[in-house]
Amino acid sequence: MMYSLFLASVLPLLVAGKATIDSQIAALEASNSPILQYPTQLTQNLVPKAIHSHNDYWRDVPLLTAISLGVASVEADVWHMNGTLFIGHELAALTPNRTLDSVYIQPLLKILGEENPIDQFTVNSTTPNGVFDTASDVPLQLLVDVKTDGVEALPFILQAFEPLRQGGYLTTFANGTLTLSAVTVVGTGNSPLEQVKELSPRDYFFDAPLTQLTDPSLNTTWDPTLSPLASTDYGTAVGWSGIGNISAEQLANITQFVGDAHERGIKARFWDTPGWPIHARTAVWRVLLENGADWLNADDLEAAANF
Ligand SMILES: *[C@@H]1O[C@H](CO)[C@@H](O)[C@H](O)[C@H]1NC(C)=O
Ligand SMILES: *[C@@H]1O[C@H](CO)[C@@H](O)[C@H](O)[C@H]1NC(C)=O
Ligand SMILES: *[C@@H]1O[C@H](CO)[C@@H](O)[C@H](O)[C@H]1NC(C)=O
Ligand SMILES: *[C@@H]1O[C@H](CO)[C@@H](O)[C@H](O)[C@H]1NC(C)=O
Ligand SMILES: *[C@@H]1O[C@H](CO)[C@@H](O)[C@H](O)[C@H]1NC(C)=O
Ligand SMILES: *[C@@H]1O[C@H](CO)[C@@H](O)[C@H](O)[C@H]1NC(C)=O
Ligand SMILES: *[C@@H]1O[C@H](CO)[C@@H](O)[C@H](O)[C@H]1NC(C)=O
Repeated sequence: MMYSLFLASVLPLLVAGKATIDSQIAALEASNSPILQYPTQLTQNLVPKAIHSHNDYWRDVPLLTAISLGVASVEADVWHMNGTLFIGHELAALTPNRTLDSVYIQPLLKILGEENPIDQFTVNSTTPNGVFDTASDVPLQLLVDVKTDGVEALPFILQAFEPLRQGGYLTTFANGTLTLSAVTVVGTGNSPLEQVKELSPRDYFFDAPLTQLTDPSLNTTWDPTLSPLASTDYGTAVGWSGIGNISAEQLANITQFVGDAHERGIKARFWDTPGWPIHARTAVWRVLLENGADWLNADDLEAAANF
């Protein structure tokens, strides 16, 4: 029954040929027909990619530009002043209207609200969808790069995330279990390691030092319940310009640091990779990915997404 109905509707199109099909598709697309609409289509067709949007807040439209390209990690520089969390690269770039709440948290709440409609089909759902419609179980990683005193800023940052916490949208480590959710928040910059360790439950994680995971003087057992991510400055850890051949020592450093992270179930990221010339940038990205680096750190998101 269903099958013959299907044939009856499709056969004439097949017979009439491609031009007719295209015009039918165009007519349907223009029709606003409800069969073409679904609640979570905001991010339909976007395949999430392991790209980190370096200095995301610099983009004309922070957060959404990254999400629109399927970029699954963004970074916000946060300045704590008098209890308010401003967003910007330097003091001169701060404005009263650009805060952690207005630039990241409210837009995320809106997107996640659209990806998580509450209706008769979702009443029994226990885990929320993430921002990517094609891969709703992939969390968005949000790096909070604290620029001011970390111990002072942390309580305000944790408070700022309360709306996402209330929605059940934050990846959380509690009672010995790490539960992934729509957004994984990772503190970097001046984020205070000892205070992050003490959080229980923990929904603010710590960007581990990728070159020091085996260093006993840090008194820390690095694992994904504390640090889902470990990062290092590409220039000092590797340094290859992307032109000519990479040296054996440089390559050995990449594999050693990536191996140290993967042994612990942690993802590896090298930041400040060369941006120019383009062929050098691409050569570095390729060597990093071929040797297991998990996140491409990118300023040019479109180039990285099409890489
Ligand atoms: C912080 O508060 C002090 C004292 O009230 C004030 O002088 C200063 O302008 C405030 N700074 C910001 C960034 O609002
Ligand atoms: C910016 O913030 C000021 C006060 O902090 C407010 O009066 C104004 O409406 C805001 N502007 C925009 C565009 O949101
Ligand atoms: C939700 O759970 C109830 C009770 O188990 C069940 O009757 C109902 O069919 C479920 N709804 C969906 C959409 O799965
Ligand atoms: C952790 O365990 C406590 C006590 O059993 C419980 O109240 C709490 O809800 C649990 N937290 C989570 C996030 O599961
Ligand atoms: C590690 O522990 C030792 C002994 O308790 C202490 O002296 C040292 O300062 C600690 N190192 C760090 C980085 O906290
Ligand atoms: C390898 O990594 C170590 C530790 O970070 C660094 O001191 C050394 O300079 C690196 N070697 C190269 C060739 O970059
Ligand atoms: C670079 O590596 C290639 C392949 O291993 C080799 O043929 C070439 O001679 C190397 N170039 C230099 C400048 O070492």
